[in-house]
Amino acid sequence: MMKLKLAIVLCVFFVCCASKEWWFCESNKHYEFDVSSVTLKPNPPKIGDNLNYIISGSLSRQVTDGTLNLQTYFNNMLIFNITENLCSDPDNFPCPSGPGLTTLKNSFSIPSFIPPGNYTGLINLKDQDKKEILCLNYAMNLQK
Ligand SMILES: *[C@@H]1O[C@H](CO)[C@@H](O)[C@H](O)[C@H]1NC(C)=O
Ligand SMILES: *[C@@H]1O[C@H](CO)[C@@H](O)[C@H](O)[C@H]1NC(C)=O
Repeated sequence: MMKLKLAIVLCVFFVCCASKEWWFCESNKHYEFDVSSVTLKPNPPKIGDNLNYIISGSLSRQVTDGTLNLQTYFNNMLIFNITENLCSDPDNFPCPSGPGLTTLKNSFSIPSFIPPGNYTGLINLKDQDKKEILCLNYAMNLQK
């Protein structure tokens, strides 16, 4: 019985903490892009990889244009701050998109010169009215 309890505790621990790779910037806010999953390829990503990420969810309004901003921090220092057009590649994100189920694909080349360690950051999406439709925080441990 003790062993079973320990197994359950360990299991809950891993499920809880493995899924804490991303979270909404503001937990109480209703984002127009309601994300249900984030998929990384490869997973886990390593330093030097070309990391593909897929964000799936549901849009409560139609998006015809916008921007994607990606920020990455290491030891609380901003090391990347990239802003791109959300609609530049219809294979990644067709515009218009929504309302309804939506998938956003993108990639990021993790430079081979960055040190191993814990990285955090955020992905921020704005629509054609410059309204924030999504803000996700993420954390990842990157090794060589
Ligand atoms: C990131 O860059 C944008 C301009 O591309 C700037 O407006 C913004 O303030 C920067 N963010 C941070 C945290 O420095
Ligand atoms: C990175 O995060 C993991 C998990 O939270 C932690 O165990 C580890 O000590 C951290 N490493 C550094 C260098 O902060």
